[in-house]
Amino acid sequence: MAPSLLAADFSRLYEQVAVVEEAGAEILHLDVMDGHFVPNISFGVPVIESLRSRSKMFFDAHLMITEPMRYAEAFVKAGADHITFHIEVTEEPQALVDHIRSLGASVGVCLNPTTPISSIESILAVVDLVLVMSVWPGFGGQAFISDVLRKVKELSERMGDHQRLQIDGGIDPNTIGSAAVAGADTFVAGSAIFGKPDPVEAMQLLRRLAQGSAVAQSKS
Ligand code: DX5
Ligand code: ZN
Repeated sequence: MAPSLLAADFSRLYEQVAVVEEAGAEILHLDVMDGHFVPNISFGVPVIESLRSRSKMFFDAHLMITEPMRYAEAFVKAGADHITFHIEVTEEPQALVDHIRSLGASVGVCLNPTTPISSIESILAVVDLVLVMSVWPGFGGQAFISDVLRKVKELSERMGDHQRLQIDGGIDPNTIGSAAVAGADTFVAGSAIFGKPDPVEAMQLLRRLAQGSAVAQSKS
């Protein structure tokens, strides 16, 4: 599980991070939006930097920005362990992968709901993670687009064991099972965790549902 900070109560960010960290979350998903690539602005470097000093979680920065080449370094310096960029913003994905790696971070590439797998063909073997968007990026709380499960399935058949397959958007108790069955192994959830009265219980339920579905699938 990768709780998405976007759905947290920003007036008590640290408390919210501590709650999921103490409950065993290992990855914190950080949704950075620039108001250009997506029609919304979220948070940036200073927020990540402040949280870094108080959390040991793996910081997974999802850059929904038009210029990841320009800003990746600032996010890694602020404490991001991992950078995911969108394939839709670059003509030179290999250069971006090399740049992010040279900064010392792991690298992911993200596909919008209608972006085909062919667009990441040239870097599929060299990234650490592929992120499949199951909503249009920009806002939390949207409905899951189940069509993307076809891409998840194909990617899971093609990716290596050392690579992560992440899904993001509309993950909740009703949708997480199908994503796990399709082959996703990392589940971003914002509203379904931080939007709940008890985020810890919500996260544990999601984890159980994902594991249960994945196990049932592997036995079938
Ligand atoms: C959407 C973000 C997501 C978002 C998911 O642009 O990339 O990470 O926080 O929110 P939920 O889980 O509420 O769909
Ligand atoms: Zn995200």
